[in-house]
Amino acid sequence: MRIERSRQLHERARAVMPGGNTRSSVFESPFPLYAASGSGAWLTDVDGNRFLDFTNNFTTLIHGHAFEPVNAAILRQLPFGASFGSPTELEIELAELLCERVSWFDHVRFTNTGSEAVMMAIRAARAFTGRPKIVKCEGAYHGNYDPVEVSFDPTPENWGSNRPSPVPYNSGTPASVLEQTVVVPFNDIAATKELLHEHAAEIACVLVDPMPARAGLVPAERAYLAFLREFTRANGMVLISDEVLNFRLSHGGAIGRFGIAADLCAFGKIIGGGLPIGAVAGKTEFMAVFDPSRGKPPVPQAGTFTANPLSMTAGIAAMRAMTPETFDRLNALGEAARQGLREAIRGAGVPGQVTGLGSLFQIKLNDRTLRSYRDQYPDAAERARLAKLVRMVRDKGVLISSTGLGALSTPMVQADIDRLVAIIGDACKEARA
Ligand SMILES: Cc1ncc(COP(=O)(O)O)c(C=O)c1O
Repeated sequence: MRIERSRQLHERARAVMPGGNTRSSVFESPFPLYAASGSGAWLTDVDGNRFLDFTNNFTTLIHGHAFEPVNAAILRQLPFGASFGSPTELEIELAELLCERVSWFDHVRFTNTGSEAVMMAIRAARAFTGRPKIVKCEGAYHGNYDPVEVSFDPTPENWGSNRPSPVPYNSGTPASVLEQTVVVPFNDIAATKELLHEHAAEIACVLVDPMPARAGLVPAERAYLAFLREFTRANGMVLISDEVLNFRLSHGGAIGRFGIAADLCAFGKIIGGGLPIGAVAGKTEFMAVFDPSRGKPPVPQAGTFTANPLSMTAGIAAMRAMTPETFDRLNALGEAARQGLREAIRGAGVPGQVTGLGSLFQIKLNDRTLRSYRDQYPDAAERARLAKLVRMVRDKGVLISSTGLGALSTPMVQADIDRLVAIIGDACKEARA
C-alpha cells in the first residue's frame, strides 16, 4: 500500500495542530491515511488507495459518499447563500419531515452537532423539572460535553462496585460536574432503580442510548427501557433518548423500534446528509421550554450556523431518500453482514462475536455474554488483537472503525457484504496463524 503522501501531510499537520490532529477520534499512530475523495461505498486516499468504507464518517453517511441528490440540493442552494441571520423555509421542511416520520415528535429544534443536541436536551430537562442532576449509563458516549463524558471510559481500576463511581474523562474536570452526573449500569434494572431512588428528588433527566456503541453495540433489553420509561414518568423526570448514532435504525428512529416513546430525543448524523447537524425533538410540553413567543423562554438557544440552509437542504435530500423500503433493504443487508461475519469469525477459529442491529455491526474479539459496558470491556490483549485486525482489514481494502464498528450505506449491495466478510475471515485466519 502506498502511504508516502499521507506521511507528508501528517508531517505538515504536526507543525500547525497538536499531534497533527484536530479530531482525536481519527488519530492514528504513526499517522492516519488522509482522504482525497469518496464515491458511493468507496473512499480513495491521497496516495490513490481505494477502500470499501464501512466507517461512513462515524456512521453519518447513510448514502455513502457524494450522494447525487444531496450534491444537487447543495448546488441548488449555494448560489443563493450559505447562511443567513434569518430563518429559511428549508428548516421548516426538514422539521416537518422529521415530525411526520417519528410518531412522538411534535416539535424540533436544530443544532450544529449531536453533542450540542444532547446539551440542549439536558438544558430543556433541567428547565422543565427545575432539578440539576442527569443520569447516564456507564460507558455510553453522548458527545463532547463534560457532564455526559463522565464515566465514558472507566476502567476496572476506577469503576467501583455495581454502583458505578462517576469517573472524569478529561483531566481537570471539576468535582461539581461529577456530582451532577449519576452513572447507572446499562441493562441492570435493580442497580439502576436503587440509584434513581437515591437521587430521585434531584434528577432532571435520564439519558439513554438504546444501543450504545461504546458499551458493545448491544441493544437495550426492552424491559430495561420500559422500566426507565415508567420510572421517569412516575417520578417527574424527563426521559431523553440519544439517537445521534441510532436514528438510522428505522424509519421511526431508535427507541420507537422498541415500542417506547421518550420525552425528548437528541439526534443528528444521518439527518444532515453529511453536513454538520444535530436536533432535539419531542413532545410539545417539553419542547415548550424553547418557545420565545411569550417573552424570554426558560431555555434560550442561539448558534450562528444553526439550521443553515446547506445542512437543511442536504438533510432533506438524504432523508427523503430514506423511505421505509430503503430502510428495510439496508437493514436486511445489515443482517446479512452480521450473519456472514459471525460465520467467518467462527470459521477462522478465533474467539469473537458480532453485535448490532439494523445497518450497524460491531466485531468483538471475545466470547463473553454482553449486556453492558463492563461485559464488553476489552483487556489490553483483546484491544491489541482488535487494533491489529482493523489494520489488517484496512490493508486489504476495507475500512471499519478502531472499535470494530461498521455502518452500511445505501449504495452497498450483497457483493460488498461478501467482500467485507471474505476480508474479515481472511484477516482472522492470518491473525490466528
Ligand atoms: C450516541 C451519540 N451521541 C452524541 C454524539 C455526538 O455527536 P457529534 O459528534 O455530532 O457532536 C455521538 C457521536 O458519535 C453519538 O454517537
